[in-house]
Amino acid sequence: MISFGSVDEARAIARRRLPAPVYHYVEGGKESEATAAMNELAFGRVLFDAPTCPTAIAPTCGTTLLGREVGMPLAIAPTGFVRIIHRDGELGAARAAARANVPIAISTWCGAPAGDVVAANPDTWFQLYVINGREGAGWCIDLAREAGCRVLVVTADIAGVVPADRRSAPLPETMSLKAALAFAPEAWNRPRWLWSLLRGGLAMPAPNAPRRPDGAMLQVQDAGKLLAATPVNWEDLAWIRARWPGPLVLKSVMRAADARRAVEIGVDGVIVSNHGGKVLDGVPSTLSVLPEIVDAVADRAEVLLDGGVRRGADIVKARALGARGVLIGRPYLWGLAAGGEAGVSRVLSLFRRSMAGTLANLDRAGIDAIDRSVLRPLPDPVAWNMFGRDDLARRLA
Ligand SMILES: Cc1cc2nc3c(=O)[nH]c(=O)nc-3n(C[C@H](O)[C@H](O)[C@H](O)COP(=O)(O)O)c2cc1C
Repeated sequence: MISFGSVDEARAIARRRLPAPVYHYVEGGKESEATAAMNELAFGRVLFDAPTCPTAIAPTCGTTLLGREVGMPLAIAPTGFVRIIHRDGELGAARAAARANVPIAISTWCGAPAGDVVAANPDTWFQLYVINGREGAGWCIDLAREAGCRVLVVTADIAGVVPADRRSAPLPETMSLKAALAFAPEAWNRPRWLWSLLRGGLAMPAPNAPRRPDGAMLQVQDAGKLLAATPVNWEDLAWIRARWPGPLVLKSVMRAADARRAVEIGVDGVIVSNHGGKVLDGVPSTLSVLPEIVDAVADRAEVLLDGGVRRGADIVKARALGARGVLIGRPYLWGLAAGGEAGVSRVLSLFRRSMAGTLANLDRAGIDAIDRSVLRPLPDPVAWNMFGRDDLARRLA
């Protein structure tokens, strides 16, 4: 039974249902969490120029992303260790995304084999972390190709798996009932979560990550160390381009010069992303740097954006500023926490409904008819990223 009528409500339910460390694994940002907060707040600083007497009826949300038709310009962002949130995990999310005809990007730390996710959703993107250098990356690229993943997304910033937020504990190294209870002692008061974890087999496997030298699957504790040991560099990106024949996207781009460099290497798209504020606190919101990146490369590559997208109207704002589409991380995880696969479906339909309503009120027949003219003049770059103590206090409450 899905009982939420808004994404905010799903967030509140996730907060009640998940033990605090799990909730903060999802919600937390780095350090002061200012960047995580700014990502969301920036959307409130961009304002529509509303026409009187709009006449558009039933506008179309459909468009294309990286050469494929989609129900709306939104993809599920790659997120690691999803099964700690709900046993439906990435497979449930992939099925929900397939019903909405939107892509899902799976993390290198996805808990299900990539082939199973592709069977659930033909538009599956594989997010690659370069672990164990090029040997590990090559292993993952071959696996993604053989599994039938359509797009390769290279993440260049390193969050590790130790939650960024000061309120969180590190994820348990291997999952067992004892480890789960040590990690989240209040789990006894979160029976739905505990039951889901038990029914999911208490496992947090990473079947698509490179194997250990002894052939065993990597464990959570390996993840952070290996990520930090072999960060991806520009030469690796060129090497990956030569090895991956399909659409290639670089995630974690925040500067126009970096976007240009990636496009010169031959990527088909860039994702303007600061990892949801989980990596480097104090960088600007993604929406505020979007226009300069669009100006630099949008004529040669698709520019996508993630971070702080919380409603369909936000997708329209990102499109108006030149993004081809957006990805959502936390909102789909809140849906998963609140209702498993059905919760993700609900979140996606809320996004679609908000987007269609926004298009109608802006008097546009479809998302492809959106351009900068639907916006009021933009705030200056400093005001864009200002936020008050109350904003931060609300986030940390
Ligand atoms: C719990 C969690 C785990 C994440 N794991 C990954 C990951 O494994 N790989 C990756 O590229 N990004 C990861 N991200 C970042 C997301 O892909 C995305 O950039 C971010 O969540 C977007 O911001 P939003 O949560 O405000 O929508 C993770 C984000 C969250 C919230």
